[in-house]
Amino acid sequence: MTHPVAPFPAPPFPAQRLRRLRRTPALRDLVAETRLSAADFIWPLFVTDVPGADVEIASMPGVKRHRIDGIVRAAEEAATLGIPAICLFPYTDPKLKTLGCEEAWNPENLTNRAIRAVKAAVPEVAVMTDVALDPYNLNGHDGLVKDGVILNDESVHALTRMALVQAESGADILGPSDMMDGRIGAMRQALERAGHKDVAILSYAAKYASAFYGPFRDAVGASGLLTGDKKTYQMNPANRAEALRLVARDLSEGADMVMVKPGMPYLDICREVKDRFDAPTFAYQVSGEYAMLMGAIRQGWVKEDVILESLMAFRRAGCDGILTYFAPVAARALG
Ligand code: PBG
Repeated sequence: MTHPVAPFPAPPFPAQRLRRLRRTPALRDLVAETRLSAADFIWPLFVTDVPGADVEIASMPGVKRHRIDGIVRAAEEAATLGIPAICLFPYTDPKLKTLGCEEAWNPENLTNRAIRAVKAAVPEVAVMTDVALDPYNLNGHDGLVKDGVILNDESVHALTRMALVQAESGADILGPSDMMDGRIGAMRQALERAGHKDVAILSYAAKYASAFYGPFRDAVGASGLLTGDKKTYQMNPANRAEALRLVARDLSEGADMVMVKPGMPYLDICREVKDRFDAPTFAYQVSGEYAMLMGAIRQGWVKEDVILESLMAFRRAGCDGILTYFAPVAARALG
C-alpha cells in the first residue's frame, strides 16, 4: 500500500540534514529502500533451428538467437548467475507459418523441444513460455484472423491447445501474451482437467499496443509479416483504469502472477497494480527499451550504469521481478 508521509512535521534544518545518511556507501546501503538482485530477473531468450539464423539481432545489439544447445548453455549460465527463470521465444522457420497456426501446438515445435532440453539439463531453472500465435502466423498476429478481423474465441481455443502442449513439455510458467478475452480462464480450466494443476500462469494482463516491440518482431521474424496493427487487442497507451480491470479479470480467472508491458514508460501502472492487488507483479523491459539503452551505451552517450538504474526503477515502482534482456549482464554487475 502507499505509505503516507510521516504525520508529524519534519524537523527543521539543521536538526534534519537528509544528506547525513547519504555520506558513505555503508550508510546509503543501510537505508536503501529497495533491493535489486539476480533473483528478480526472468531472462527472455530467442530460439531457432533455422540454419544461419543463430546470429545477433541487428536491432538488439548483444542479443542473439540460440540453437537449442545454446539455450541449454544459457540456462546453465542463468543457474550459475542466480537467475531463477528464462522465457523462450521461437524464431520459426518461415515455411512452417500458416494462417491456421498449427505449428503452435506441435509437440515437436522449437519451443517444446527447447523446454524439454532445458528441463532435462537444468531442472532447477524455471522455464516460462510465450502463449501467442504470432511466431507461427503468416500474418504476424497473435490470434487467428478472418477477413481482417482477429477472432477472439477461436484464438482462445488455439491458444489453449498451445498452452497444454507447453505444459506437457514441462513448462513451469505459461505466459499468455495474446490479449484475447477469456484466455486465462480457458487455459486454467484445461490445465486442471489435464492434470497440470501446478503449472503457473504469468498473464500479460496489461499489455499495451506499443511501438517499443519493434526489435522483438525482428528477433522472431514477424516484422515483415504483420498486416495492420494490434490495436484491437492490445491496450491503448492512454488508458489506466482499463489496466486495473484487466488485472482484476485475469487474477479472477486463475492467473498466478500479472505483468505490465512495456516497462519503463508504464511505471505508473506497475505501482498501481501492485498497490491495488498485492499480487506477484512483473514488468517487461521490452526490446525497444533494451535497444534504446544499449544503443546509447554503445555510442558512449550514457554509461552502462543506466542498466541497473533502469532495473531498480521497476523494483521501486513495486514490481516483484522484471523480464529483461539485460538479465545476465545485470546479474554479473550485481555480483
Ligand atoms: C507477442 C509478443 C511480443 C512481445 C512479447 N510477446 C510482441 C508483440 O506483441 O507484438 C514483445 C517483447 C519485446 O518487445 O521485447 N505475443
